[in-house]
Amino acid sequence: MRVLILGGDGYLGWPTAMYLSRRGHQVAVADNYFRRRAGMELNCEPLLAVPNLHQRAQLWKEISGRQIDVFIGDVCNYDFLAKVFREADPEGVVHYAEQPSAPYSMMGREAALFTLTNNLVSTCNLIHAVAEFAPDCHIVKLGTMGVYGTPNIDIEEGYLEVEHQGRKHKFLYPKTPGSLYHLTKSQDGDMLYFYCRIWDIRVTDLNQGPVYGIVTEESGADDRLASIFNYDDIFGTVLNRFIVQAVAGHPLTVYGEGGQTRGYLNIKDTLACVELALLHPANPGEYRVFNQFVETFSVNELADKVVEAGKELGLKVKINKIPNPRREAEEHYYNPAHTGLLSLGLTPHYLTGEVLTGMLAFVRRYRERICPGYILPRVKWQQ
Ligand SMILES: NC(=O)c1ccc[n+]([C@@H]2O[C@H](COP(=O)([O-])OP(=O)(O)OC[C@H]3O[C@@H](n4cnc5c(N)ncnc54)[C@H](O)[C@@H]3O)[C@@H](O)[C@H]2O)c1
Repeated sequence: MRVLILGGDGYLGWPTAMYLSRRGHQVAVADNYFRRRAGMELNCEPLLAVPNLHQRAQLWKEISGRQIDVFIGDVCNYDFLAKVFREADPEGVVHYAEQPSAPYSMMGREAALFTLTNNLVSTCNLIHAVAEFAPDCHIVKLGTMGVYGTPNIDIEEGYLEVEHQGRKHKFLYPKTPGSLYHLTKSQDGDMLYFYCRIWDIRVTDLNQGPVYGIVTEESGADDRLASIFNYDDIFGTVLNRFIVQAVAGHPLTVYGEGGQTRGYLNIKDTLACVELALLHPANPGEYRVFNQFVETFSVNELADKVVEAGKELGLKVKINKIPNPRREAEEHYYNPAHTGLLSLGLTPHYLTGEVLTGMLAFVRRYRERICPGYILPRVKWQQ
């Protein structure tokens, strides 16, 4: 399949590109290096130095013999996106090209406006490019479980059947996002659903939980091919942050009471889910939603697991509950459905002690690059 990955330089984008390329798909990637620039501007650079996208594609070619086409530019610029569509002629597009950080979106007015504009304009441009150049192309957009919030009822996969005064109707599941970033992920989903109904485009929205992990089968033993890995308060996801904190000898930063429960998945499962969605496309006019996670854990449970795994490597890991910079429920009901991707054939990776010690051992090799100044949260939801 000809697959275009928007945001192909990012934490998930580059590993997805290699994964799909190795499995015989013809892959093109587009990115404007927003993530790298933001890391430099905010002084929160990744743990490993990462070659640029052209260099990564060249390395991948030398190692695998396979070509990944690289386009550098902004998806919010329609002329750029149109050129990419004309050249790549995709049958499937994976849309990762958004500002992905909740704390970033809550830094202030400018960051809020950037997040809104970037995430909604990139999605709107993508829809129009599909309609203009590749009407049968299937859009796989990365959404987030965070759009649902923490309602006091079970979370379904995308839709909820409502009975009202004796009649029934299926609506999109109500959204209660907890940050401006999560709000934009809810809004881009609404936009895609709208165009499915109006223009019969095909869309799969993958409402993903926080991802953990560094290396994949494709990056193998060559760390130059590993993913961009952030462990700071802005771009690091919680388990990745805890792993680095454990290696640095910094107490794990549990926000508030630590009862916040979410659905997690290994980066390897993200790649598998995306391919499964591409291989089994939504029908024309269908806005299909999958909840993309494997296991649920509270933050306290994650921290305890890291403490246990640390013992295996002789690390004395401590936990420190700090005031929660976010506004969120710290104890709540959480029971989201997630059967769709399993029924398409996902074979999940679970968060075992071995997975955790593997991550700790990997990060320990880069211990001297850890910057302790990146660890504590700088952004508060209420200024
Ligand atoms: N990582 C997670 O745990 C996680 C969880 C749930 C959902 N997601 C979603 O998955 C997607 C990818 O996440 P990630 O962690 O890989 O983030 P990332 O920031 O590493 O990747 C996104 C990439 O898109 C690029 N980009 C952003 N705006 C762009 C634009 N206008 N034009 C071109 N390129 C642009 C960035 O430079 C970056 O390389 C995001 O949409 C995010 O919301 C991620």
